[in-house]
Amino acid sequence: MKRLENRIALVTGASAGIGEATARALAAEGARVLLGARREERLRTLEQEIPGSKGLVFDVRDPAGMAQALAGALAPGETVDLVVLNAGMARGAGPLQEGNPEDWSEVVDTNIKGVLHGLHVTLPAMLTQGSGDVVFLGSVAGRWVYPGGAVYCATKAAVRAIYEGARQDALGSGVRFTTVDPGMVKTDFSAVRFRGDEERAAAVYAGVDALTPGDVADAILYAVTRPAHVNVGEIVLWAAAQASVTAVTRR
Ligand SMILES: NC(=O)c1ccc[n+]([C@@H]2O[C@H](COP(=O)([O-])OP(=O)(O)OC[C@H]3O[C@@H](n4cnc5c(N)ncnc54)[C@H](OP(=O)(O)O)[C@@H]3O)[C@@H](O)[C@H]2O)c1
Repeated sequence: MKRLENRIALVTGASAGIGEATARALAAEGARVLLGARREERLRTLEQEIPGSKGLVFDVRDPAGMAQALAGALAPGETVDLVVLNAGMARGAGPLQEGNPEDWSEVVDTNIKGVLHGLHVTLPAMLTQGSGDVVFLGSVAGRWVYPGGAVYCATKAAVRAIYEGARQDALGSGVRFTTVDPGMVKTDFSAVRFRGDEERAAAVYAGVDALTPGDVADAILYAVTRPAHVNVGEIVLWAAAQASVTAVTRR
């Protein structure tokens, strides 16, 4: 028997990168996976590739849209019992004093409120059911701040606070909470951060054996497949080539 059979999983930000790899990994273990993101075309392609999956088009900044999409995907009495709160992004890497309030709002609304909205539409039913897994995509950026990263790092520090708070508020419920905090992972993250400047994005990963999305999915899978009495709280995952948020060795 596969380890996640009979589980219904929601992955936010499943259209690319870590979320996509996680959706594939959860489905391979038998979970029925709901793929949440904004880019419908990508979700429809993934639906074809990932057995039993269903794409839900939503923006994590819109709680009503999330709730509606989720309600449309669940039959009466069904509950999402594994949620990966992964959707996230950064904008720019300049000094704070040169930052743009519109960018700040986008990053804060996506990375903090988006996570809260994801909890809002899934956690109450898990608490009623008395079991479930909530996985947060934090970052080493939530633990250590680097130059030009103040706002992104602040949002990931907030995710860590939400993880800690949720675990305490739900104590005794049977629901488990995990934060997976990776260092450098090779995804579209930098291309989004630099608004499609592929050259600048490529320079971030040049000569580095960064983590792959599959490496992070593997860590998530480990956490959610432990016996019910075990709660893997925090996983910090570095590439061997990275020793801190500023120390990276390149070939
Ligand atoms: N890459 C890294 O080095 C790294 C390191 C540590 C932590 N992380 C974290 O890992 C998570 C995933 O990032 P990634 O590296 O996989 O980046 P990515 O390849 O750019 O993927 C980001 C995903 O989030 C979705 N998303 C973004 N904004 C959204 C919104 N408003 N509503 C719904 N979905 C949204 C995107 O889908 P749509 O555009 O289709 O909506 C996409 O599926 C993020 O939380 C990031 O902060 C990344």
